Amino acid sequence: MVQAVQGAKVVVTGAGGGIGAALARRFAAQGAQVVVNDLDADRAKAVAEEIGGLPVPGDAASTVTEARDALGGTVDVYCANAGVGRDGGEPGQPLDEQGWALSWDVNVMAHVRAAHTLLPDWLERGSGRFVSTVSAAGLLTMIGTAPYSVTKHGAYAFAEWLSLTYRHRGVKVHAICPQGVRTDMLDATGSAGDLVLKPTAIEPDDVADALFRGIDEDRFLILPHPEVAEYYQARATDPDRWLTGMNRIQQHWETTR
Ligand SMILES: NC(=O)c1ccc[n+]([C@@H]2O[C@H](COP(=O)([O-])OP(=O)(O)OC[C@H]3O[C@@H](n4cnc5c(N)ncnc54)[C@H](O)[C@@H]3O)[C@@H](O)[C@H]2O)c1
Repeated sequence: MVQAVQGAKVVVTGAGGGIGAALARRFAAQGAQVVVNDLDADRAKAVAEEIGGLPVPGDAASTVTEARDALGGTVDVYCANAGVGRDGGEPGQPLDEQGWALSWDVNVMAHVRAAHTLLPDWLERGSGRFVSTVSAAGLLTMIGTAPYSVTKHGAYAFAEWLSLTYRHRGVKVHAICPQGVRTDMLDATGSAGDLVLKPTAIEPDDVADALFRGIDEDRFLILPHPEVAEYYQARATDPDRWLTGMNRIQQHWETTR
């Protein structure tokens, strides 16, 4: 049992499947009271029923108040997990303005709105935990999808900003940055995902394991694929070398997709 989450009031967005469902199950197994949010009402209800949680269907970008009300007005842990993977249209194709807007709304602004709503109470109480399901794409980049790469960098930057701004006031922040995880989203990434994510993909439960180790060890950065630390270091140390390597993958993808 992880002491920090026993009896905690937890919200997990996008918890009707994939990583969110694994997180919701793990929090419930640790004795937490869990709000299961998902855009898909049936999936939210099914997971909530399974774990004895509370379903709050709806868009994660606008349901934080409803989720807090379902827990009686207090949230101890907020998992900003729902995310969308869209491509933005390559040059020569129409710019997908809607795809970009949706990516900003769900991958970044949903986190900003949730934090804005929850922080006054957390700062008053001197405790609160914000878990952001980012992606390794937020530290590195994902070939084939500019909106995903850019907005996941935004999600990581926001989590980092929250952590450095409020860590002395009792607010804990964790940024989960996995590469491929076997979920519907991975299946939807097509040939780019097949090339760079599927070969090392892990299970949603592995992500939950990594988060709970990170909570136990009080760590901000959660890397379910530990090799991502080396890639992140390589990117920071020699950006041109790293970009050349990534471009080689891009070129390989162009010949195989
Ligand atoms: N699967 C991967 O390889 C991978 C890798 C790194 C990061 N991630 C991130 O993990 C998070 C979860 O992804 P997943 O792979 O479990 O996806 P998934 O598609 O398996 O599940 C996502 C769930 O979120 C719900 N959802 C989508 N938009 C929503 C919204 N606006 N509000 C509420 N619910 C919404 C969907 O209905 C679905 O049930 C995302 O933020 C994703 O970017 C996934």
